[in-house]
Amino acid sequence: MEIIPEPEWEELVKKLIKHRGTAILLGATDSGKSTLSKYLIKELLSRDIRVSFVDSDVGQSSLGLPGTISMKIFNRREDIDDFKPERILFIGSLNPAKKISMIIAGTKKMVDTSKVEGVNIILVDTTGLITGEVGKALKIGKIRAIKPKQIIAIQRYDELEHILSLIKGIQIHRLKPSRMARHRSREARIKYREKRFMEYFRGSQIIKLSSKGLEFFYNGRPFDAEDVYIEPGSLVGINRNEDTIALGIFEGMTLDKVAIKTPLKSLTWINRIVFGDIIRC
Ligand SMILES: Nc1ncnc2c1ncn2[C@@H]1O[C@H](COP(=O)(O)OP(=O)(O)OP(=O)(O)O)[C@@H](O)[C@H]1O
Ligand SMILES: [Mg+2]
Repeated sequence: MEIIPEPEWEELVKKLIKHRGTAILLGATDSGKSTLSKYLIKELLSRDIRVSFVDSDVGQSSLGLPGTISMKIFNRREDIDDFKPERILFIGSLNPAKKISMIIAGTKKMVDTSKVEGVNIILVDTTGLITGEVGKALKIGKIRAIKPKQIIAIQRYDELEHILSLIKGIQIHRLKPSRMARHRSREARIKYREKRFMEYFRGSQIIKLSSKGLEFFYNGRPFDAEDVYIEPGSLVGINRNEDTIALGIFEGMTLDKVAIKTPLKSLTWINRIVFGDIIRC
C-alpha cells in the first residue's frame, strides 16, 4: 500500500527527532494511526535513527497478530520490508475494553524492553477506542504507565480533548486525519483478522506436550485446568514465563497431555499456556 503523506507530517518528523524518547499515537478508529506510524518509521530510518515500534492495538494489530501486543526494533532501512514482530505478548481478547490492565502492563513491558535496547525513538500505536470512560481509562492508563515525551493526537474535531485536557507536561502534536484515511467496515475488519490468523497457522501441526510442569493462565493469573472446561479452538499464548513465544490453538487435553496446534516446531522451554477469549474454529 502506498502511503500518501500529508504536508504537515514532515514537520512532525522534525519535532520527533528534536524531542526523541517515547511517542504515543492517539486517534479514533480509521484516523490513520497505523499508516502514520509506518511513515514515521520509514522517515526516521532514512535519517539513520533507530526506532522501536510497539503495536498495542489488540483489535486491528498492524505489526503482530490480533489479540496480541507486539514490538520490533528497526535498525536499518531494510528492516521495514520485514514488518513482523520480534516480541509478542498474548492478551487474549480482540476487544481492548475487556483487558485494560493487561494491555497497559503489556504496553509498558514492550516500551521498557525497547528502552533497554537503547533505541532513539519509541513509537506506540494504539486502538481506536477513545470514547467514554473506558476509552479515557485505557489511554490515560497507558500514558501514565509509559510516560511518553510526546503525544501524536489525530483528531477530526475535538474527540480526543477529553483525554488531552487531563495531560500535563507532555508535548502534544495535534494533527488532522490524512485525506487518504478510509473507513473500514466491520466485515472488512473481521476479514482482515481472519486473513492474519490463516496466514499464521498455515502449515501448523498439532503438538502434544506433557502438562507436568506447565502452568495455565487466564487474565494474568494461574488456574487449575482440571477444574474448568476449555473449549477446543481457543486461541492460546504459548509462553516461556511472561513472554509469548508463539500462538496456538487449543485442541484438547487429557490427564497428562495438552494438544496444541501451532506453527512452532518444538515446545521445549515452554512452561505456560495462556488462555483468552478468542475462539478460532
Ligand atoms: N496517508 C495515507 N495514505 C494512504 N492510505 C491511507 C493514509 N492514511 C490512511 N490510509 C488508509 O486509511 C485506512 C485507515 O488507516 P489506518 O489503518 O492507518 O487507521 P488506524 O487509525 O490505524 O485505524 P484502527 O484504529 O482501526 O487501527 C487504511 O485502509 C489506510 O490504508
Ligand atoms: Mg491501526
